[in-house]
Amino acid sequence: MTEIFEAVRKDIADEHAAIIQYLYHAYSTPDEEIRGKLESIARDEMRHFKWLNEWLVKHGQKPAIERSSLVSTGTLKSLIEADIKAEIDAISQYIDHKAMTDDKELIALIDRIIADERSHRTEFEKLLEELESKASAESDNPSGPSEGPALGAHEAALLQQALEHEYTSLLQYLYHYFTTGGSDEYEDFSIDEMKHFGWFAEALAERGYQPLLEHKVGEVKTAPEDAAKSNLSLEEEAIRKFSEAREKIRDGEVKEIFELALEHENYHAFSLKKMLEKLEKASGKKFTVGSLKELKDKEK
Ligand SMILES: [Fe+2]
Ligand SMILES: [Fe+2]
Ligand SMILES: [Fe+2]
Ligand SMILES: [Fe+2]
Repeated sequence: MTEIFEAVRKDIADEHAAIIQYLYHAYSTPDEEIRGKLESIARDEMRHFKWLNEWLVKHGQKPAIERSSLVSTGTLKSLIEADIKAEIDAISQYIDHKAMTDDKELIALIDRIIADERSHRTEFEKLLEELESKASAESDNPSGPSEGPALGAHEAALLQQALEHEYTSLLQYLYHYFTTGGSDEYEDFSIDEMKHFGWFAEALAERGYQPLLEHKVGEVKTAPEDAAKSNLSLEEEAIRKFSEAREKIRDGEVKEIFELALEHENYHAFSLKKMLEKLEKASGKKFTVGSLKELKDKEK
């Protein structure tokens, strides 16, 4: 059985890479139509990531949030070619992994995913054809990459930092969503962070910066109180950083993104505090940093 768990973990790491790779490719083109298609395929990969993790956790395993390597640089054409290759590799890997198990649920899930990957491959192939015909139509009249308003290096660094924060939060919430057996709140929060992630990445790409897609998720705490506490401190860090960034950013559109994200983070922090209070009441203990200090003081 451990062999199939390892295989599924590899599938999940590849799905994770596919999500990021396709989003990355979406942000590297100013063409709205192509961007929309890439984003929609990335959303399918997110669902694969989620379903496979749910299967793992249901079988007593830890969620998988590792990520395989991805292709992030090159011309749009070479990127789409890499995406086609990723789909072809995924299909053959899923076929191999399906042969390793007799778990009916997993087999049905893999069949469903293979069908999706096949349709992705076709979509990418069509995209490549369109790209080639567009390129020949535009070769007489080349238009450079879209240029958004100029953004200083220091402001761009604030955006990159926010992006890293969103990626970290989104993964951590997904992790907790899996370990709590599907908490609605954690699912909602992860969707919010995913949106923020998209806003920051697009804002960077539109202004000529390559979004850095790295996260800093370390050991994830899973006990409900520990989870809520670590999420709350992540939100508080976001609130601090985004408030500072909002003051420093001059680009009106970027400022607005920070403001909107900040409102969401405030709401997340508020909900987490309520969640902690409930957990405290249920266990009769206090978990806040202040109350832990009180307990220690009493012990003296
Ligand atoms: Fe997938
Ligand atoms: Fe796919
Ligand atoms: Fe966020
Ligand atoms: Fe948040």
